[in-house]
Amino acid sequence: MTIAFPEKFVAGVVAHINEDHRREMLDLAHGLAGQNWASEASLLHADKHGLDLLLHAADREERLRVTFDEPLERPNQFRPALIALIQRARQALPDSAATSSRRSIELSDALYNYLHAVSLREPEVLQQLRAETARNPEGRMQVGPEQGQFMALLLQLIGAQRTIEIGVFTGYSTLWTALALPANGRIVACDVNAEWTSIGQRYWAEAGVAHKIDLCLAPAAETLAALLADNQAGQFDFAFIDADKASYDEYYEQCLQLLRPGGLIAIDNVLWGGAVADETQQDADTRALRALNAKLHSDDRIDISMLPVGDGLTLARKRLGA
Ligand SMILES: C[S@@+](CC[C@H](N)C(=O)[O-])C[C@H]1O[C@@H](n2cnc3c(N)ncnc32)[C@H](O)[C@@H]1O
Repeated sequence: MTIAFPEKFVAGVVAHINEDHRREMLDLAHGLAGQNWASEASLLHADKHGLDLLLHAADREERLRVTFDEPLERPNQFRPALIALIQRARQALPDSAATSSRRSIELSDALYNYLHAVSLREPEVLQQLRAETARNPEGRMQVGPEQGQFMALLLQLIGAQRTIEIGVFTGYSTLWTALALPANGRIVACDVNAEWTSIGQRYWAEAGVAHKIDLCLAPAAETLAALLADNQAGQFDFAFIDADKASYDEYYEQCLQLLRPGGLIAIDNVLWGGAVADETQQDADTRALRALNAKLHSDDRIDISMLPVGDGLTLARKRLGA
């Protein structure tokens, strides 16, 4: 593990270490708060005998006094001693603290825009649909464009031809899917709202992919049950679950039957704005998501990865023997 110390920080410490300028050291540490390394360890105080550190874990903070083996007399002794000490301190911490440095980066508006600027290849028809959806009062229900593009890539990676979409809304994620599928690709698109989905239908036609999309306006559990009754088990490559949260578990079980071994289920909103990790949140949707997340963690029918994409996205691959 490597800890990167900003040059400014090291230079400041070296300049002050032998003078014991406590006030400046504290100011320096506070001034660096928010930089990457400071989200793991803040320096509260330093002198030639040792350091007072505040170590930040995901769920708490821990204060630690570490002492050098010998008092530091020369500035060039400081940097390697500091790195060795912090590594030793971090190894003594529980896992949550030790892994926090590798957690996903927080996205400022500027960074989010940058990410789009250097990676998004959103076709114009999708841009137009996204702009129209943004004017809808419920527009935040739509997945972000980087998530749509990511799922399109997944579809190409697994060579998907037949997919299930549970929760269409204005058809944005459905359109990403339709554009990613080959000419003979087909989507069973489930929703209960004719008004919202009619917006999508206009854009699907404009994009020339309407023939790939079978829109089923009925509760999704009924549509999926009908597919199973029609001997469609094992016939699908991919399913995207993004509808009413209370039914997610039912959709998951149905999709698992409908998927071929090696097929992929993507489940949206699994972090639910952070509510799943907040025990004071006990509404039905949060509890349903929490229960499903726990269930999937130990479900040996699938391989999983939960990603901090959008509002949280779980990928579940149906195992070959399942
Ligand atoms: C979060 S939105 C889907 C967003 C869409 N995937 C996108 O990225 O644009 C949820 C959708 O689920 C639909 N829905 C709610 N309950 C449903 C049910 N029981 N069966 C099918 N769809 C349902 C809603 O009408 C809504 O359009």
